[in-house]
Amino acid sequence: MRKGILSLTASAAALALGLTACGSDSGPTTGSTSSASASASASQKAGKIGVILPDSKSSARWETADRKYLEEAFKAAGVEYDIQNAQNDKTAFQTIADQMITNGATVLMIVNLDSGTGKTVIDKAKSQGVATIDYDRLTLNGGAAYYVSFDNTKVGTLQGEGLVKCLTDKKAEKPIVAELNGSPTDNNATLFKEGYDGVLKPKYDAGDYVKGPDQSVPDWDNTQAGTIFEQMLTSQPKIAGVLAANDGLGNAAITVLKKNNLNGKVPVTGQDATVQGLQNILNGDQCMTVYKAVKKEAEAGAKLAVALAKGEKPTASGKVTDPESKQDVPAELLDPQPIYLENVKDVVADGYVTKEELCTGDFAAKCTEAGIQ
Ligand code: BGC
Repeated sequence: MRKGILSLTASAAALALGLTACGSDSGPTTGSTSSASASASASQKAGKIGVILPDSKSSARWETADRKYLEEAFKAAGVEYDIQNAQNDKTAFQTIADQMITNGATVLMIVNLDSGTGKTVIDKAKSQGVATIDYDRLTLNGGAAYYVSFDNTKVGTLQGEGLVKCLTDKKAEKPIVAELNGSPTDNNATLFKEGYDGVLKPKYDAGDYVKGPDQSVPDWDNTQAGTIFEQMLTSQPKIAGVLAANDGLGNAAITVLKKNNLNGKVPVTGQDATVQGLQNILNGDQCMTVYKAVKKEAEAGAKLAVALAKGEKPTASGKVTDPESKQDVPAELLDPQPIYLENVKDVVADGYVTKEELCTGDFAAKCTEAGIQ
């Protein structure tokens, strides 16, 4: 009885706030709120879904891929949704979550900025009966009901194997390897490192490779990554390979290598198959990237979210164990794919980047050479 009154009050408030929101300028950080009138009956039954993306600078993917594919999936399902970006602001992250709950969200899907704030948001959501999904990044000790991501240790393994392949192609002897890791507050960065260190450590131990500087980049900040790599190269000018955890960090290293006429000579890895990363590969400045089909990740996340919004209890195909709480979290984990010059064309064929955005200016000829149709 009490619950009934509460939810009635909540939906009345949501209606009022929703109407206000319609009239206001949403601005660049605010996502669209949409209800597909064609499937009004579905959206009447389903609750509203709130998604919080982390930022738009640590990787191009969040705004160019995740937002786009999530919107497509929610529109196709005819549910109401609100996608916002916290722009790397932890306070804003919590405020957005609070507002989404006040505005009637019954499902929250978050990409946390760190596990602490992620957990605060999840706890709050749970206390209000809102279902929770960790999207891409697991909130440690967070207790989200579901987790959707890629096999992130495998992402790291592919990066490690990629660097080995590129160093072998260059016939590098006892190369000094620098590691530019992702944010120390992102559990994915920990998993990526586990993956690539699993490949590199045996090489260091055997004396085939020499371990060089190894540093994390706070918040995956690309500018800081440049400063950090500059210091690495100053302290160790003979760095012969760079394990960079994503395309943004890789590009920061490449910019420094260029200043020292070392680009193309020192292989650099990446991740996310961003336009910039793929162009660096076409140029020969980056050795590989890891393509994660974000469309599939967004579809898997949206499918769970829509089911939850309809009051269903979806089952996930797998699970992960939260290393802190030791609790199992039902999970959907997708398969990442390594990309070298030879198969840059696969990313275009998959529709993740278009020929138009990739093959601009001088890249047109390189695209043709790489068989990009
Ligand atoms: C994601 C990567 C991304 C990085 C920086 C990670 O959690 O898995 O795809 O490059 O965050 O945004």
